[in-house]
Amino acid sequence: MYVCSCFGITEKQVREHAEAGACTPRQIASASKAGTDCGSCVRSIQSILGRGGCPRRELLGTAAADAMPTTTVAEPAVVRAVATSAGLEAA
Ligand code: FES
Repeated sequence: MYVCSCFGITEKQVREHAEAGACTPRQIASASKAGTDCGSCVRSIQSILGRGGCPRRELLGTAAADAMPTTTVAEPAVVRAVATSAGLEAA
């Protein structure tokens, strides 16, 4: 099943990236581009990661996994979607 229709990324691919160490939507975006166009899939990606899609998150705990460094700058669509879901929309 497709999670990101903009880039044709499936739930299975998101899980594979998570198993390889991508534990946040930003890291999934860096690995696959999922979430970097319209951003409508970011909540689904967060849900997959929250359902045990990321073994490192379970090992390290959520705060530690979120603090892991990334290698690229977040795409604007990802930042907007994550900020919106956290209730941090810009005025
Ligand atoms: S559906 Fe994923 S960026 Fe549009």
